[in-house]
Amino acid sequence: MSEESAIRVMIVDDIADTCDQLEKLLYFEKDIAVVGKAYNGREAVEMARERRPDIILMDINMPEMDGITATEAILNHDPTVQVIIMSVQGETDYLRSAMMAGAREFLVKPVSADDLYKSIRHVYKLGQSRPRVASRAGADAPAGDTAVSRGKLFAVYSPKGGVGTSVVAANLAVALRQMTQKKVALVDGNLSLGDINVVLNLRSERTIVDLADRVADLDSELINDVLATHAAQIKVLLAPPNPQTGELVTADHLRVILEALLKEFDYVIVDTHSSFQDRALAVLDIADRILALMTLEMTCIKNIKMFLEVTELLGYPGDKLMLILNKADNRMGIRVENVENNIQHKVALQIANAPYEMTLSINQGVPLVIARRDHRAAKDIFALARELAQLTNSDASEKRNPQAATTQKRQDGGGFLGLFSRKA
Ligand SMILES: Nc1ncnc2c1ncn2[C@@H]1O[C@H](COP(=O)(O)OP(=O)(O)OP(=O)(O)O)[C@@H](O)[C@H]1O
Ligand SMILES: [Mg+2]
Repeated sequence: MSEESAIRVMIVDDIADTCDQLEKLLYFEKDIAVVGKAYNGREAVEMARERRPDIILMDINMPEMDGITATEAILNHDPTVQVIIMSVQGETDYLRSAMMAGAREFLVKPVSADDLYKSIRHVYKLGQSRPRVASRAGADAPAGDTAVSRGKLFAVYSPKGGVGTSVVAANLAVALRQMTQKKVALVDGNLSLGDINVVLNLRSERTIVDLADRVADLDSELINDVLATHAAQIKVLLAPPNPQTGELVTADHLRVILEALLKEFDYVIVDTHSSFQDRALAVLDIADRILALMTLEMTCIKNIKMFLEVTELLGYPGDKLMLILNKADNRMGIRVENVENNIQHKVALQIANAPYEMTLSINQGVPLVIARRDHRAAKDIFALARELAQLTNSDASEKRNPQAATTQKRQDGGGFLGLFSRKA
């Protein structure tokens, strides 16, 4: 491969030996060419402008200008550069700041040759899949005039609490953004006790209540103003600050807000409250796909069975529901096939059990699909994102199922009991 078509890599580290070692590691890789070495952040900013690398391997702690500030400066000038941050063990606190600065990947030093090659090629591929006029602020501004059609809404839901809807919704939103580079919004639909702010370590004074207060004049500007921006380039509509305020948001508010978001974003992912009450049902009605999460626990299986009956009563088309087994582990004493037979529904996808990694990622406020992209559970979530992106591509050619009737029927509240009495 000629140097022109190789992946252009720049190395930045204040320790000259480290720069040289990395250069040596890359020397024999035919598809990778080292185009420059810089020894502090300031030098890196200048060199990046001059040499236009595809990828920068960036150390964090350096004299004159640290790697995070340099990353920010470089990406402000050229958002198409992909930065891989390198740091030593124990500096994982930097992971968050590195992401905020726009870094694509994080490697722990000493970096193994394999990890290095894998990361460079992976990050390069990600960069290639971006739109030609790439914008780092891609998620900062809603689609506005450029949105040609209504986006797709995925409701992550479980009829039982604690099954993982919040972490799956947050990770799915990030994975969809990373895979498609489309505009993604994540909505915390838990109006009493939302968790998304913690899962993503996001702080904002503005929440869904600010949109509910002004449903009559929802426009791009207001939406952009209220939704928080996460470093992974997704926009997030956070839950109210307390349950009392949450009560002010009605099912009608939710419908209007979600429809407004669907005009602005390609994908809207809702962490839906685990209940059969009218606000959760409003989300499920509007959803293009319901990702129904379950675990291999009898109580959960019982609730899923009941939920499947409910979806039939609601007249949802069969393909609206996607059953997902979360925390999948074959040591739970129950076989998936037996559950499928029992509930007469196929499990579309499984997300591996990763108790330690999930808890760590929640506590660090960094989604697993970023912090541990190689972990089985993260790969499963990427597979889910891929499937949804493909499904919705093929949906685009089909006419959308009109759901107005079911939505209308529930305008006056009702919830679970209303639902059954309506059938009777
Ligand atoms: N794939 C997984 N493997 C292991 N643990 C997981 C997995 N997914 C979620 N968890 C864990 O399950 C717990 C509940 O997750 P989460 O808060 O996302 O669930 P939830 O359905 O949103 O709960 P709630 O009903 O309280 O809103 C957390 O401890 C989380 O770490
Ligand atoms: Mg939750």
